Amino acid sequence: MERRKFIKTSLTAGVGLGLLGGLYSWKVEPFWLDFNRVKMPIKNLPKQLIGKTLMQISDLHVGNRFDYNYIIKSLIEAQKYNPDFVVYTGDYVSYESNEQIGQLKKVMQHATNGSMGTFGILGNHDYGKNWAEQEVADSISEVLKNNKIHLLSNSKSSKNGLNFIGLDDLWALNFNPKKILSSINNKQANIVLCHNPDVCDLDVWGDYSGWILAGHTHVGQVKAPFLDPFIIPVKNKRYTSGEFHLSNERTLYINRALGHLWQVRFNARPEITIFKLENIG
Ligand SMILES: [Fe+2]
Repeated sequence: MERRKFIKTSLTAGVGLGLLGGLYSWKVEPFWLDFNRVKMPIKNLPKQLIGKTLMQISDLHVGNRFDYNYIIKSLIEAQKYNPDFVVYTGDYVSYESNEQIGQLKKVMQHATNGSMGTFGILGNHDYGKNWAEQEVADSISEVLKNNKIHLLSNSKSSKNGLNFIGLDDLWALNFNPKKILSSINNKQANIVLCHNPDVCDLDVWGDYSGWILAGHTHVGQVKAPFLDPFIIPVKNKRYTSGEFHLSNERTLYINRALGHLWQVRFNARPEITIFKLENIG
């Protein structure tokens, strides 16, 4: 009898814990945003930019998979940090139809902008079905531009002595990084924006050394403690989240995403990164 009672109690406790864990992963963690502060030493950083902040917001995934009011609230919260620069690293929508363009317009009215500049690149989801609908990408680009986000597509823009180089998405229609990457001057201060971290393993970087800011993985959204995430949409399974030191003094940072593909997260809290600019010296 004692044994049967023990098994019954254990099973009840197990089911209870499972339900609690499920509820937590569905209702709590997906909306438990982490403003993650990270130091960003940059070569040749102009003196006047030392101590300034650069905020990275990635993978908003506005659509019908979760309540996008959470994204609006997060953007309003992010404005309170008064970032000097803001970069958006792609996947603004989870595209199903043109409805998402209207939803994105509503959300991006609250876009967080940097006092010195705001830049963005597109991700695979911004290219619609099969990542192959240029007109979807054009509509999204229009929304971003209307909200003061300077969109970079294999192109460069400079603000206050800091160069922002933005690549178009690896899986979509306009991936063409070689020309712009080969034009980077390593004697200046540079930051590359690149949605999919797998690009880091391609022979496209020339002499570039410096930071590469990516998103795309969402850390798989579910991660057992001390183990790798279950599913991440990259070839290089090492590219989960956080900082990676690559060859030729390149540093990759993978943001854990603000939005979600599915409304479930475990041990993979959504993130907005706040980098503090430092000079390498
Ligand atoms: Fe994404």
